[in-house]
Amino acid sequence: MELKVVKASVEKGEGLGWGKSLLVPSIQEILKNDSQSVPERYIQEQKDRPLISQNLFDSLQVPVIDFSMLAQKDANEIRKLDLACKEWGFFQIINHGVREEIMVNMKAAMAAFFELPFQEKSKCAKAANEIQGYGQNFVVSEKQKLDWCDMMFLKTFPHETRNFKFWPLTLPGFKEAVEEYSTEIRKVSNKIDANLSVLMGMDQNGLKRKLGEFQQGIRMNYYPTCSRPDLVLGISPHSDGSLFTLLLQDDEINGLQIKHKEVWIDAKPIPNSLVVNIGDAIEILSNGMYKSIEHRAISNEKKPRMSIATFVMPGDEVQIGPLDSMVNEKHLPRSYRNIKYIDYIRQKFAMKMQGKAHTAIVKL
Ligand code: OGA
Ligand code: NI
Repeated sequence: MELKVVKASVEKGEGLGWGKSLLVPSIQEILKNDSQSVPERYIQEQKDRPLISQNLFDSLQVPVIDFSMLAQKDANEIRKLDLACKEWGFFQIINHGVREEIMVNMKAAMAAFFELPFQEKSKCAKAANEIQGYGQNFVVSEKQKLDWCDMMFLKTFPHETRNFKFWPLTLPGFKEAVEEYSTEIRKVSNKIDANLSVLMGMDQNGLKRKLGEFQQGIRMNYYPTCSRPDLVLGISPHSDGSLFTLLLQDDEINGLQIKHKEVWIDAKPIPNSLVVNIGDAIEILSNGMYKSIEHRAISNEKKPRMSIATFVMPGDEVQIGPLDSMVNEKHLPRSYRNIKYIDYIRQKFAMKMQGKAHTAIVKL
């Protein structure tokens, strides 16, 4: 069988950005030839396989934050947010103000892209020395196990980081849907950042003042059905390199799991909500008070699952390190060294996804 590798030419002058990743076949295409196939390259080592059977910790729920209460500066809701960040690193937000229509359009645009013929999708394919575009990232060795997932990564903010070479511009409505969704998510992220600023001992503009204009990137994950979800992983355990991430997930299909007190638990979808998780950059800035938590996605036999992750990040040239307000020589010594954000993100993209291994570079 001929494997269709998602491939674009390597162009001169590229590759000086965030990183690169080996080119790999599209799992969606492999399954078009044989929907039951589970190629060896996707079968995880025994120790890494997910437990698909009944989840013993079904009763545990990721905290839910009512965003409209935060807007009213409700002290109880702010305390809930603080606890969610400390104890979970994850929360789901409801009443976030993003109109349902905008989320529906975004999901439809993503679905329309992944339903295109392979040849069409390949026009947006990432090159080996790029991380934007259609394909897969974090593949650094031919021997490494692959995730049961195809993805599309696009930078969306600041405007000048948009590289339309990787956007399916001929797909009706795609560009508009991504732009509109990203603009709305930016508003939500501004409110999250204002709240986190205050919780980290600053005024509400504290993070913006320290970090300048935030960058935003969108990762669309397409997880095809799998005849043996017990053998594979949709996305390997990792923490995000962002400040924080907002995830729009399928309203019905479970897939996202987070590691809470050493146990994998499902982040069960709440329709129209957004899942928010703390990324490595906030862990570093908060001097470890808020942790970026390991998470993964599992696949399923019944339906393809799609998710849309928006990463909110500092600018490339910004130095990140524990905030003065989070360090105290006596009681809260610095746990992380300072690092330029692009150096941090480059070394994250240089490794396979492997839990929090990539965070070692900043730990003191
Ligand atoms: C990610 C991610 C989880 C999911 O894209 O970083 O963790 O449920 N996705 O798709
Ligand atoms: Ni993630």
